[in-house]
Amino acid sequence: MSRDTLREGRKSPMNILGISAYYHDSAACLVRDGELIAAAQEERFTRKKHDHRFPAAAVEYCLREARLTPEGVDYVAFYDKPLQKFERLLETYLDYAPRGYRSFLKAMPLWLKEKLWTREHITKSCRTGAKVLFTEHHESHAASAFFPSPFKSAAILTIDGVGEWATSSWGLGSGNEIHLEAETRFPHSLGLLYSAFTYYTGFKVNSGEYKVMGLAPYGEPTFVKTILDELVNVAEDGSLRLNMDYFEYAHGLTMTNGAFDRLFGGPVRKPESSLTQREMDLARSIQDVTELCMLRMAQHVHRETGEKALVMAGGVALNCVGNGRIVREGPFEHIWVQPAAGDAGGALGAALSVWHQYLGNGRCPESARGHYSDAMKGSFLGPRFSDDDVERELKRLGASYQRVTEPCLIHEVARRLADEKVIGWFQGRMEFGPRALGARSILGDPRSTKMQSVMNLKIKFRESFRPFAPSVLCERVGEYFDLDCDSPYMLLVAPVHQDIRHEMTAEQDRLFGIEKLNVPRSTIPAVTHVDYSARVQTVRREDHPQYHALIAEFDRLTGCPLVVNTSFNVRGEPIVCTPEDAYRCFMRTGMDTLAIGNFLLDKADQPALAGDQDWQKEFQLD
Ligand SMILES: [Fe+2]
Repeated sequence: MSRDTLREGRKSPMNILGISAYYHDSAACLVRDGELIAAAQEERFTRKKHDHRFPAAAVEYCLREARLTPEGVDYVAFYDKPLQKFERLLETYLDYAPRGYRSFLKAMPLWLKEKLWTREHITKSCRTGAKVLFTEHHESHAASAFFPSPFKSAAILTIDGVGEWATSSWGLGSGNEIHLEAETRFPHSLGLLYSAFTYYTGFKVNSGEYKVMGLAPYGEPTFVKTILDELVNVAEDGSLRLNMDYFEYAHGLTMTNGAFDRLFGGPVRKPESSLTQREMDLARSIQDVTELCMLRMAQHVHRETGEKALVMAGGVALNCVGNGRIVREGPFEHIWVQPAAGDAGGALGAALSVWHQYLGNGRCPESARGHYSDAMKGSFLGPRFSDDDVERELKRLGASYQRVTEPCLIHEVARRLADEKVIGWFQGRMEFGPRALGARSILGDPRSTKMQSVMNLKIKFRESFRPFAPSVLCERVGEYFDLDCDSPYMLLVAPVHQDIRHEMTAEQDRLFGIEKLNVPRSTIPAVTHVDYSARVQTVRREDHPQYHALIAEFDRLTGCPLVVNTSFNVRGEPIVCTPEDAYRCFMRTGMDTLAIGNFLLDKADQPALAGDQDWQKEFQLD
């Protein structure tokens, strides 16, 4: 049966299940007649951070949310092509043989057991007879960037570590079609170059990249010349070629090698050992080189396509400092970044690609209707819990709570925030993507000079060199930050406005590390980085009415239209998903109040939480 005959005469809606799995951040999503119904990462259900296994729980959730049985799924879309990935693995092994024997042997069992049998695995795990389709990795990223964007047409840029062979690509999205024009291929990869420095500076590859970006403002770009002279050749179009004499990832079990150590004057930093100026300079240098590549790529794709808007996805598109520079310096009038820019979002791209590209269905971007908004529903695509669900759980957990009206909840939370209390804020549907956006968030007062250390040490159990991020009323963003566009997904870093900055004395400038961060640099010190930058989330009333109302109430009480927003979890733990996760996290940390649905819980009123002994071992020692 042809695709057209399949669509003809069809009355029931078309359900497409998107899946990404087996590498990092497995996820599932459900697209019904082109509309995003549900999406979630597997880690939120299994409570295993960055879970890469088949997303059975996320699939189950998506079907439940869509009120579907497995038989109701018409297509399953998988976010990459396992056979092509396997081909890369084999070819790379043969290119470097016998050097890569150990890493080849290490990779083989999972390939032979699961990855090569993805189609069978999907059919069996989802208990579905639906047709399984595979999109290429960078096509999935591109589709996740363009199809939900508000633009009728846009230039597309995807940048990550590696998919099958591609490590970055660019192209054009128009109507319901995407055309990728060119790609850079493995082993030459901006994402893997950044990950090599993540590894070398002692952080975890695939999750510590944020830390490198946060560390960069402390450093000087002293290694930029060495990187550009020795490690990487960056062409005018932003594409790059790496000197593989310094890297081990193509064939070994590590990212970098002895030659890399010699080039930068020492071995890999031991994780958890103290950070020195050298790591800070390395972080700053690789960040500068990354920004150079990103800006050149953006300029190139602008030259080639002549488009006014740019959309981006892939792990490197989570580099919000680089994104901020493209907004300020790049040639595009608008940029839109997929909130789940990493591989989780590939599930969404694969499903939308099947709907628009394979099945040929049209697309109606929001800008075409005169309302500048995307199709991501604020990225609130995860599980939700009714007040009845929440109350049942709170009773079962033996919690002490008070049920209030929504206006009362908003006033009470704002009042406590103004009183420097730390609030667990659990409302509505869980976010899809790595950031908490006001559905599973911990909130604080950005004006407070003690908030940063209180939230780091008593809530997140870490001593961080990174400041927290602000959620600001969209209509007031210009008073606090040099940003003249929306940043609903916290994917843009912008300078803190000159008018609210504090100048540093020479003595304060000489401070080091955390000491430097602890000196108030503006009227909102908890969210101001040492280079006077901030990772901004703008909140619009239309998109997020309750969260907007909360920040507006905080503004009414204090004159400050922003709050500190950090993810609702502790170090090493995925963001909370259920009321039970939230209550346990609340009880184990120094949070003062939990606002969950229309229920308010104060820490002082709670009985001790039973059965919690193993928790510290599990989560604090990341
Ligand atoms: Fe990717």
